[in-house]
This record gives sequence, C-alpha cells and structure tokens, in this order.
Amino acid sequence: MPDHCATVTVALNGEVNENRSYDIAIASHSLKSLGEKLVEIGLGKKSKKVLIVSNPVIYKHYGEIVQTSLNKAGFDVAHLILPAGERFKTANSLQKIYDAALDHRLERSSAIIALGGGVIGDMSGYAAATWLRGIDLVQVPTTLLAMVDSAIGGKTGINHPQGKNLIGAFYQPRLVWVDPEVLKTLPAREFRSAMAEVIKYGVIWDRELFDLLANCDRLDQLRYVSSELLQTILYRCAKAKADVVSKDEKEGNLRAILNYGHTVGHAIESVTHYRLFNHGEAIALGMVIAGAIAVDLGLWSAEEQAQQNVIIAKAHLPQTLPADIDLDAIVAAMSSDKKVEVGQVRFILPTAIGSVALSDRVTSDIVKQNLRKILA
Ligand code: NAD
Ligand code: GLY
Repeated sequence: MPDHCATVTVALNGEVNENRSYDIAIASHSLKSLGEKLVEIGLGKKSKKVLIVSNPVIYKHYGEIVQTSLNKAGFDVAHLILPAGERFKTANSLQKIYDAALDHRLERSSAIIALGGGVIGDMSGYAAATWLRGIDLVQVPTTLLAMVDSAIGGKTGINHPQGKNLIGAFYQPRLVWVDPEVLKTLPAREFRSAMAEVIKYGVIWDRELFDLLANCDRLDQLRYVSSELLQTILYRCAKAKADVVSKDEKEGNLRAILNYGHTVGHAIESVTHYRLFNHGEAIALGMVIAGAIAVDLGLWSAEEQAQQNVIIAKAHLPQTLPADIDLDAIVAAMSSDKKVEVGQVRFILPTAIGSVALSDRVTSDIVKQNLRKILA
C-alpha cells in the first residue's frame, strides 16, 4: 500500500454503514496499488471480472499501470476506450459500455473501473448503476475536477441531445482512488478550471481552505502548487464534499449548496454555446456574480467578496464577460436550468466565508444589474 495515504470516508445515512459508506483514498504513486486495495475491500471475492473504462489519452498514460496492478491482484481485466470529450457523454457511448460488459460477461459481483475525468466517471457510473441493475463501481479520477468533485458523491449520468446530465442516477462507488501524480499530465486549462470548484468549497464550507488559497501566490498551474499543498487541497475538498453528501445524499436541500456559482455559470456556458468558457471558467464567473448579489442584498461583506475574487484571479479564471454578450439570454437560460424548482430560480449566496444561504429573493433585474457590472 502507498505511504502517506489520506483517507476521507463518505459516511452514508449519517453513520458508517458497511454496505454503502466508502473511502476516498488520496496517495501519490498509488495507481500501482489499486488491485491490492480492491482485494482488501472485498472486490473479486466472487467474480474476478472487471472492466476498465477510459479514453485514449488517459489510457495511454495510465492504462498499463492500472491493468498490471489489477492482473497482479488476480482480476480478469478487460478495457474499453471511449472517445474523449463532453460531446461523447452520450447514449451511444453508454451502449458501448453495455456491449463491453456483455462481451466480457460481467456478472452481478463484477466491477466497472472508471479511469478518467468527470466524463468517463459519470458515464461509467451510470453504466454500473444500470448493468444487471447495479454492479460495483470504482472511481479512479484523473482530473483535478474529478478528484475534488465528480468522482465523489454518486451523481452519475449522460447527456440528452436537449440538455446536460438529463439522464442519470445516484449511485455510489465502492472506492475513490486518487493518485495526485496523474495531474502532471493534465492540460493547464483543465487544472485552472477545476480550481473554480476548489475555491467554491472554501467559500461555501471550509474557511481554513479559503485562507490557505488566499495565502498562495498562484493557483493557475500545478507547478506553482507544492505537493503538500495539493495533498491538503485534495483532502479538504474531498472532506467538504463527503460531509455534504453524507448529510444529504440525494440533494433534498443541503447538497444544493455545492451548486454555488452554477446558476449563472451554467447559463453563461449555454449562452456562449460551451465554446467561449469551459465549465470551471463559467463557474468562476457565476461565483463573481453570486458574490456581488450577496453583497447587494446585504448578506455578505464586500471585503470577503473581494477576497474571493482575488483568489479567483490567482487561478487566472475570468471575471469579465464579453461586452456584446446577450444578458437577457443569460437570464432566460437561468430560468430553464434543470435545478429550477416550481419556476423559482434558487441562488446559493455566501453569508460569510465557509457559510452560505439559499435565497429565492434574487430577481432577474438584480442578476442583470450585476452582469452589467462585469461586462468588459
Ligand atoms: P473531462 O472528463 O472531459 O476531462 C478533461 C480532459 O482532460 C479530457 O480531454 C481528458 O482526456 C483529459 N484528461 C483527463 N485526465 C487526464 C490526465 N491525467 N492527463 C492528461 N489528460 C487528462 O472533464 P472533467 O472536467 O474531469 O469533467 C467534466 C464532466 O464532469 C462534465 O461532464 C460534468 O457534467 C461532470 N461533472 C460531474 C459531477 C458529478 O457530481 N458527477 C460534478 C461535476 C462535474
Ligand atoms: N457537483 C454537485 C454535486 O455533486 O452535487
């Protein structure tokens, strides 16, 4: 087993329940120990069959090491390589996972190993949730976004041609196995973009994390973040997400706070046709707007809002919108977001670092006024 392994437990139903609680294990150079760990948590007792789902870039870098580790531990391994990118998070790719599951004769006690970022993790998760009405799932996240967010908490799914993540299920993995070393090959824009979610946890939940980020000079590239700091970031974000999910697995209420910055962020992504900004960049803009609204409504101090924006700048994430962007279209897109309930757009607004409130008081006019303030 790897040294210096930090472990966070996602305790479901508020208590450590052997069947559904699981660990997020964070340790450098741990990919090669995955097989051993799976045996330790009881996988492979009946069926030895596992299916690795990945994409060409990730598999080229890490496929062999994972495959070797699983073989050494006695697993019967097959792999499926799906094309990279959000546009392949489709029913067609899902069908390919089912086909591979059939070819490899996965059984009820077999497992799917998601080796990749959020796209691979979400699709593989949904396949595991539905194949034979549910087989084991192991998340091996390879992007910063997947390590701090998507691999944890059990949201799985694919896109419908009419909208993102419209088809899905809550389905928890048996293990989240995080090897920070893999981030060395992650493109800088992906790293930067995921920092938006890291900053989010600091604002909504974890003041210590926020202070840690505030004390850094730069957060835009892995090489400016020491391995100790990276380990701390991964641990604290995993802990934040695990705490929230443990209290509200299916987003009855509390889990909605994880959508801080996402209400406006998703609308910006959609209005700019997912081309101008990637997800994290749009979320950073969403946090800038939500922060400003919170200050306007007298919920948050301007000083803390400014501190948030300084951290966003340290990650080289955008804080301005193109002058010609259609603000009415952003407001309209917000109202058609899937998170809208009974026609009401619900905002997550900071009240202090580490704490937020849900508000139904945010009118389209307030949103527009604040969007106008950040036009370039
Ligand atoms: P991604 O999975 O598309 O990965 C981004 C890119 O990085 C891809 O091109 C991939 O090939 C490449 N890559 C991944 N790991 C690499 C590595 N170690 N080295 C080199 N290249 C690597 O993007 P993402 O940001 O990880 O995930 C976005 C997806 O996650 C979206 O579909 C979103 O809906 C979903 N998501 C899900 C949840 C959830 O709770 N389930 C939460 C947030 C986001
Ligand atoms: N990424 C938001 C959630 O998992 O609820």
